[in-house]
Amino acid sequence: MSMIRRTFQVSYELQVQFTKNVFEPTNLVLKTVLDQGGNGRPHKTIVILDEALASTQPDISRRIETYFETHSEQLQLVCPPIIIEGGERTKNSYFHVSEIHSHLDRYHIDRHSYVIGVGGGALLDVAGLAAATAHRGVRHVRIPTTTLSQADSGVGVKNGINAFGKKNFIGTFAPPFAGSFRSTSKSPRSRLLNCNLNKRRSRKLTPQAAATLSMSLAKPCATNPFASWPQETPDKSFRI
Ligand SMILES: NC(=O)c1ccc[n+]([C@@H]2O[C@H](COP(=O)([O-])OP(=O)(O)OC[C@H]3O[C@@H](n4cnc5c(N)ncnc54)[C@H](O)[C@@H]3O)[C@@H](O)[C@H]2O)c1
Repeated sequence: MSMIRRTFQVSYELQVQFTKNVFEPTNLVLKTVLDQGGNGRPHKTIVILDEALASTQPDISRRIETYFETHSEQLQLVCPPIIIEGGERTKNSYFHVSEIHSHLDRYHIDRHSYVIGVGGGALLDVAGLAAATAHRGVRHVRIPTTTLSQADSGVGVKNGINAFGKKNFIGTFAPPFAGSFRSTSKSPRSRLLNCNLNKRRSRKLTPQAAATLSMSLAKPCATNPFASWPQETPDKSFRI
């Protein structure tokens, strides 16, 4: 009996960008990242937006559209940002993955196009799974908007949804094209975590706070979400 056996390696490149105000038209970080996958035509892009972010920053969709209009020679937003619910509930069914797939089909998103997730880790996991499984892998960019996701899933290579009562039962390892990371985190979520960590009598850390803290300690100071911690007053000017 003859047999062929070979080993092979697949290498990936993951870029992590550190920036603030990513959708300010004068901020060229996102445009430059997306333009790297060039084929001479504007890059078709679809944006999946966390519902809670869209409610706390009602102008976010408009700002995203303006960003793409400003850079329309290189970027093409194929439709207004698609708002889906964030948080763990969004991972508890296949519904939102399928919803994103149907948009990718409708707007002819191909392997040279981009799916950008903007939101917490749960939303990024759902958008990432949809991107990884459409056409066997559409380019995916993660823009994290919570403290944990800025330190973890925003720069991670996994995605997934929950099933059969098990967390991340369905998922893939698929390095995103890029992750984007704010250097100082002052989201409502981070204020909540900071509050928890500041309570003198509480000796318990939430799993999210623990994960954030461990990731933060492993990062250099300039990128540390807790670089300015503890925060006395919330920064109301926080914008993605
Ligand atoms: N893929 C990975 O590598 C990886 C790594 C770690 C964790 N995770 C996953 O990440 C998830 C946890 O992520 P999380 O801690 O970011 O929480 P989350 O995604 O559950 O978000 C928490 C809440 O904050 C809301 N939100 C998000 N951004 C906001 C903003 N800027 N303003 C107001 N509300 C906002 C969300 O809608 C949600 O209701 C878990 O499902 C976990 O499995 C994935």
